[in-house]
Amino acid sequence: MRYLRFATAALATAALTLPLAASSATADPSSGHRDAHHHSHGTSDQLRRAAPDGFYVGTAVAGGGHHLEQDYPDPFTSDKKYRKTMGQQFSSLSPENQMKWEYIHPEQNRYDFAMADAIVDFADRNNQVVRGHTLLWHSQNPAWLEEGDFSAKELRAILRKHITTVVGRYAGRIQQWDVANEIFDGEGKLRTEENIWIRELGPGIIADAFRWAHEADPKAKLFFNDYGVEDVNAKSDAYYALVKDLLKQRVPVDGFSSQAHLSTRYGFPGGLEESLRRFDKLGLETAITELDVRMDLPEGGEPTDAQLQQQADYYQQALSACLAVKDCNSFTIWGFTDKYSWVPVFFEGEGSATVMRDDLTRKPAFFALQSTLKEARKH
Ligand code: G3I
Repeated sequence: MRYLRFATAALATAALTLPLAASSATADPSSGHRDAHHHSHGTSDQLRRAAPDGFYVGTAVAGGGHHLEQDYPDPFTSDKKYRKTMGQQFSSLSPENQMKWEYIHPEQNRYDFAMADAIVDFADRNNQVVRGHTLLWHSQNPAWLEEGDFSAKELRAILRKHITTVVGRYAGRIQQWDVANEIFDGEGKLRTEENIWIRELGPGIIADAFRWAHEADPKAKLFFNDYGVEDVNAKSDAYYALVKDLLKQRVPVDGFSSQAHLSTRYGFPGGLEESLRRFDKLGLETAITELDVRMDLPEGGEPTDAQLQQQADYYQQALSACLAVKDCNSFTIWGFTDKYSWVPVFFEGEGSATVMRDDLTRKPAFFALQSTLKEARKH
């Protein structure tokens, strides 16, 4: 009896999954051979397959940064289950720290490309695109740079060489580059004091960074990326004015992206769609690049069902805002499992910010993304 039940269940599973796997292999031959190994999951439960054609669903690839101080080995290279899920579910990858200056350019005359290479190769094998992150930023710069006492002329040469080297190395393999990251503060003022490039070289260096990146990889789409721009506000106004000005000067700016690190403390930013749309109307591509939704965890650390529902609603609204804007074709979450999330490390008492638990079981937010993508695909 027990055997029989097992056999029936196995047959039923086979009947359900085989046709799906077969049709996906014909629809997308380039990735078919990989999916063939995953019959048991079918393909229709994958976010990347649920998405409309040409719409990329991405995740940050955990590694470097805060992970270095945690009690687990490097997630991307060591956690097989994590890698497998990353390959199955997503069509875009963003190195979380592995392309930042501190990581990829640890000494003035030494680059460390190993991890970035491995991510780009993984993406190729899994038919995924890559978002490069990031080239001009005030944070996570190596000490040799920040404390180097270089002249303006030297700094300019250093930035140019870095951009030419890093962008050039991956030319043709990066879909979007976050060229300039977080250059404005909450009041819409340039971070002149904090940002070594703007402080030492003046704001004109921003246009140069885009020009140099474009020369090194004419195909990559070049973005401004920031948090706190999920509404029409002082910061997004500042970007709007800057982008308009740069476009007038024919600087190769292609995109504006909203990181979207959200918290249930502050409510969902209702102006997200409007904010994306006004950049769309300037002719730019837009993207959501680092979405997560953190919450205050009750005693014991487990979110309540109501909290998980609220989180699912935020994820769904952020995705819908992007789907509603014509050239918003890239939607990335900042990690897909709580196990590796930056949130609990940075915000005491907060967490559960991603769509899967530590053991990769799915939260309501995962299913909300999945059904919203499927719905959009129908239209
Ligand atoms: O570099 C210092 C080192 O000198 C010091 O000894 C050590 C002691 O704590 O800290 C080191 O800094 C770490 C840094 O990564 C660089 O390795 C921080 O502790 C660590 O918290 C940090 O984490 C990364 C963070 O960016 C840095 O800003 C996270 O892993 C990463 O998820 C996060 O990602 C950013 C995006 O790039 C941009 N948008 C916001 C997003 C979340 O903060």
